[in-house]
Amino acid sequence: MKTVVFDKPILTGDVAVPGDKSISHRAVMLGSIAEGETKITGFLDGEDCLRTIDIFRQLGVSIEREGTNVTVDSPGLQGWQLPSGDLYAGNSGTTARLMLGILAGSNIESVLTGDESLSKRPMNRVTLPLSTMGASIAGGPDGNLLPLTIAGGHLTAIDYKMPVASAQVKSAILFAGLNAEGTTTISEKTVSRDHTERMLMQFGASIQVDGFKVSVKGGNVLHGTEVIVPGDISSAAFFMSAAAMIKGSSVTFKNVGLNPTRTGILDVLRNMGARVEILEEKNGVGEPFGTVKVSYGELRATEISGELIPRLIDELPIIALLATQAEGTTVIKDAEELRVKETDRIAAVTSELKKIGADIEATDDGMIIHGPTALTGGTLTSYGDHRVGMMAAIAALIASEPIQIEDPECIAISYPGFFEDLDKLAQPANANG
Ligand code: S3P
Repeated sequence: MKTVVFDKPILTGDVAVPGDKSISHRAVMLGSIAEGETKITGFLDGEDCLRTIDIFRQLGVSIEREGTNVTVDSPGLQGWQLPSGDLYAGNSGTTARLMLGILAGSNIESVLTGDESLSKRPMNRVTLPLSTMGASIAGGPDGNLLPLTIAGGHLTAIDYKMPVASAQVKSAILFAGLNAEGTTTISEKTVSRDHTERMLMQFGASIQVDGFKVSVKGGNVLHGTEVIVPGDISSAAFFMSAAAMIKGSSVTFKNVGLNPTRTGILDVLRNMGARVEILEEKNGVGEPFGTVKVSYGELRATEISGELIPRLIDELPIIALLATQAEGTTVIKDAEELRVKETDRIAAVTSELKKIGADIEATDDGMIIHGPTALTGGTLTSYGDHRVGMMAAIAALIASEPIQIEDPECIAISYPGFFEDLDKLAQPANANG
């Protein structure tokens, strides 16, 4: 239990949030699939990404880590060794789903497991298309839940139309496609994050992107390279939202990822009336990143739906809190995927925000929030979900009474150092006059 008490602070100053979780996972994965050395800087040393490192070490890949600098030295996927035990993905959906795609095309037989939360999350969105490619995956019920046994082997390319907008599914199939016979093509209805596509190009894969379609040719050997991981915009989103809600606040985010498939939060902040300035943007090899300043603005309600959803899926818990401070009714829809995240985020966010006085209701595929409402204090649970935990901590900044957070440790999954950065940014309101 952690008690967060702030006496009406404002947020000011600069912050460099930790590395992007999605990109960190992929850098270790592709570094391990590739032959030779890969140097990663800015790696996220959070729980989820450390699980990915552990799995590849078990497969015989040499991975040295000094803080956020990681060196991967791999014989390439064909040279991996049989693991001596199960491969444990912990709480990490990205690790589990992407590993299924990678292992399917290797020559390794292994058992993939996860923690209690991950063992309830659906895997058949990945195991079904992988089985169509010829993967041998066994586990119950119908290959939908961990633990799953994967016997890597011969795969054949497929042409797959994705029923859900999910970068995890897309990436798992692309990874399997790297080792399949023929060219694998995936079509999405709306574009989900494209980190895998960008990084595959960096590692020398034969990949083509054409609008909502991406194709990868099987059989090419990848070679190690350098990967620079920018700060995670999904982590920055918590302090961006705090700065937008608290009068007098202004925070500058250095070295933050600005991949357009991830910047939906900036669009929403602008639409709601916050001040968002891109002070610098670098668009080189790999991922775009830059410096962003977010300052308070009088907030108004908005609608969040359709193609915007995949561009801010992980930000919806903090956006719900933001909407409690906006004038009018905010509607979030088309976000049924929230029900199968680390926890059911629609149920968790509505239940916790209601406890402190928010006017919020759950719908099947989103939330409806009426604002503005004053928030009171109380005990909130994180449900073991890092993003719900961070939402509760930011709520404490604007609540009239202290907020206690049950199970705050889970925040280290994506943002180790979150409370230190919060302490650094939060200043007594009278400090700046
Ligand atoms: C991720 C994709 C998203 C996101 C998750 C990370 C990724 O999940 O919510 O936190 O790294 O590919 P879905 O693919 O299930 O939408």
